[in-house]
Parts: sequence; structure tokens; C-alpha cells
Amino acid sequence: MKIKTIIKVDGLTKIYNGEVVAVDNISFEVYEGEIFGFLGPNGAGKTTTINMLNTLIKPTKGYAEIAGYKLGRDNDKIRKIIGLVPQELTADDELTGMENIMLQASLYGVNKKTAKERAEELLGMVELSDAAHRLVKTYSGGMRRRLELVMGLIHRPKILFLDEPTLGLDVQTRAKIWEYIKMLRDEFGVTIFMTTHYMEEADKLCDRIGIIDKGKIIALGTPTELKNILKGDIIVIEIDNVDNFNEEILTKEISNISEIRRIDGKISITTEKGENTLPRIINHLTKYGIKVLSVELLKPSLEQVFLYLTGRKIREEEPMDSIRMRAIMRRRRRV
Ligand SMILES: Nc1ncnc2c1ncn2[C@@H]1O[C@H](COP(=O)(O)OP(=O)(O)OP(=O)(O)O)[C@@H](O)[C@H]1O
Ligand SMILES: [Mg+2]
Repeated sequence: MKIKTIIKVDGLTKIYNGEVVAVDNISFEVYEGEIFGFLGPNGAGKTTTINMLNTLIKPTKGYAEIAGYKLGRDNDKIRKIIGLVPQELTADDELTGMENIMLQASLYGVNKKTAKERAEELLGMVELSDAAHRLVKTYSGGMRRRLELVMGLIHRPKILFLDEPTLGLDVQTRAKIWEYIKMLRDEFGVTIFMTTHYMEEADKLCDRIGIIDKGKIIALGTPTELKNILKGDIIVIEIDNVDNFNEEILTKEISNISEIRRIDGKISITTEKGENTLPRIINHLTKYGIKVLSVELLKPSLEQVFLYLTGRKIREEEPMDSIRMRAIMRRRRRV
């Protein structure tokens, strides 16, 4: 199948208040029919990018084209062909799921009869039909996300933007949402642009991923291409005294090592077939009187790629994420 570009971004930049560089001169393309993901830590600039492409905030600089429409010049046209499921959920608690969907449909000018038919089909797809006429305040976090997916699709957009579609959900619910997202792409042919800071999510769900950090894209490719950046398995060794360790001697005596780096007081060794090289490295260190305190063998993962590129980990836990926070605030207001 011929690859067709549906989103083209060139040098897009957002500087808030003349000082916070949230998105720093990024360029990339999204292909029609793919699931494209932005993976990056908190504050990397993911939401800012999505909101620029959604016409919600104005770029400071740069060019973007969505399905042939130019951002800035053709914003009305862009709005008609995109759908958005924002990071901060928007459904009204005091309405039922169906009422929320119908409200969304009327905002997009979809007539009632069509909206109802589509709503029923989409609700069935995300297994929410039974709860359609319940108030949203009785929904679980996963049900809310599924409802928002339906709301984002009611006007049949060509492109669906999903900002952290599984934020704060447990592992099983997250996997279920992945299934729905794949299904939406496969059955409706929508192109999906999503953001996440869950590495497993990006790996399992996305056809291509841009890793974003501090407003910049630091790597872009398929999950496999990204993992190949590592050039093999990684062995992380903690020894009693790093000063006694000599990189040159190790590479001379053991073939197969493509890179040695010192990260966080530990030694990180890149090698093919880690399980074979590991015992040889331990023997080597023991021979030179170096005491090994701990050893880890890591197979290439996006987590490793991020660590390799930035020297930092992406923090995955969120003790009090924004959804829960908002739910709590709403509850407080009601009492
Ligand atoms: N309205 C604003 N005014 C000023 N600074 C902002 C504004 N919105 C975001 N920022 C800053 O821009 C940077 C990028 O924020 P953004 O929300 O795009 O990141 P993100 O990757 O979506 O993060 P998260 O994973 O937490 O959702 C951060 O430093 C943030 O503090
Ligand atoms: Mg965000």
C-alpha cells in the first residue's frame, strides 16, 4: 500500500508567555491510517503539540498541514475533520452518556437521527451500550474514557487525537482501551495521533513513535527501529569501586561488546546475546579483583531507549493524576 502523509509538521514551536519553550522546533509526518504516538515524560510538550494541531492554541512559529489544510489559514476546515479526546475529560457528570454524545453531535451539526445511529454503533463497539442511559457520575474511569472515545468520533473525523487515552487506568482496562483504539482504526480507517507516557502502550499500540523530551523530538521510528538504536542487549553492573574499572581492557578481552557507558554510578554494557556475554564479563571482573554487587540483563525496550537517549527514566507512576484530582474537586463542590 502506498504511504500517504496526512499530517505534516515543520518547525512547529510554542513559547508560552515569551519564556517557556514548551515545543521546540519539531518536524514530523503522520501517515494516513496509522497509529502514531508521542511518547514522553510529564511536561515534554505532548499536550501543547496536540492542542496546536487541534487549533486550540496558536503556534509561536512553524508550519503544519492537516489533510491538506493549512494550520492558521484553514482552521475551520481542520476542526471539521478531526476529533479530540483531551487529557482533561470533558463529559458532563450530570448528564447520561447518551445525552453527552448527542450534545457533542449537535455541536458538530450532526443531525439527531444520524447521531443516534452512530452513537449506538460506537457504544456497542466499546461495550458501553448498557450504561448509555446512566448518569456519567456513576461511571468508572475506564467507562468515562470509552464514552469520550465515542464523543470524539461522533462526527466521523478522518483523524482522531487522543491525549493520554489511558491515563490513570489500571492495567487491564488500559489493555481493553488499546483494543478499542485498534478497532477504531481498522474498522473506520481513522488515523490516530496519540500521546502517552506509558512505554508499553506506545510499544504495543503505535505503528510509529516520536520520543519527545523537553519540547524536542529526540527519536522517531517504528518500535523496532527505536529499539535497534540500542544495538543489542544491555547489561547493567554495579561494582564496589567504579574507579578500578577499565573500559579498554574489558573491550579488548571480550569480543561482542559494542558500547560501555557509566550511568548513575553503574556500568552499562551493550552487547549482542547478553546471556552469553554476561558470565564472561563476571569472570573478567573477578579476575581483576573487582567485586560485583549486582547484575541486570535488559532486553531492548523503549524504556531503555529513553534512558539511553536522555540519561533519565520516564516516570510512569502518577500518585494523584489530573483525572482523579478533578473528580475529587467536583465531589467537594457538590457537598
Ligand atoms: N498555558 C501554559 N502557560 C505556560 N506554560 C505552560 C502552559 N501549558 C503548558 N505549559 C508548560 O509547557 C510545558 C509542556 O507542557 P505540556 O502540557 O504540553 O506537556 P505534556 O507532555 O503534555 O505533559 P503531561 O505528561 O504532564 O501531560 C511544561 O513545561 C508546562 O509547564
Ligand atoms: Mg499532557
